[in-house]
Amino acid sequence: MISEPTPTRTPVLSAQALARFAREVAKYPADQKQSAVMACLTIVQEEQGFVSADSEKLVADYLGMAPIAVHEVTTFYNMYNQRPVGTYKLNVCTNLPCQLRDGARALKHLEHRLGITMGGTTADGLFTLQQSECLGACADSPVVLVNDLTMCSFMSNEKLDQLVDGLTSAAAKQP
Ligand code: FES
Repeated sequence: MISEPTPTRTPVLSAQALARFAREVAKYPADQKQSAVMACLTIVQEEQGFVSADSEKLVADYLGMAPIAVHEVTTFYNMYNQRPVGTYKLNVCTNLPCQLRDGARALKHLEHRLGITMGGTTADGLFTLQQSECLGACADSPVVLVNDLTMCSFMSNEKLDQLVDGLTSAAAKQP
């Protein structure tokens, strides 16, 4: 089911972001510029941290699409954040093959360790915990994807704790 987008303030994108939009659109025939929708949403997220309803409208206007069509893309893919997230977004796969191999246990362990429930963000803004559909690494279950890029495999409770500790200390070293 597609949820209604949450209204937010009007987004202002930088000139660099708009230039990147133009470069993405130029990759496609003029009558197919909507093919750049995923790239444009990624650019928005890189600049603003998440894709608000107003950003979806901006992308829709830019590409000549209906806002709901852009919202369908944003809500289909886990990598698009529909609200602000923590420094580290942890996606735990809970699809069926992973459920059969401790995916739910891994999610529960992280909920307990971080003191939040699935979908929540820690009070210090460091971690957001989400469940995800298949990440394409079923044989490595339980798996956790960090910030949409780094796949962590065979995540025992001990390895989950090491991951949280490592990311916490990495954040503490940031200027
Ligand atoms: Fe979890 Fe495929 S079901 S990675």
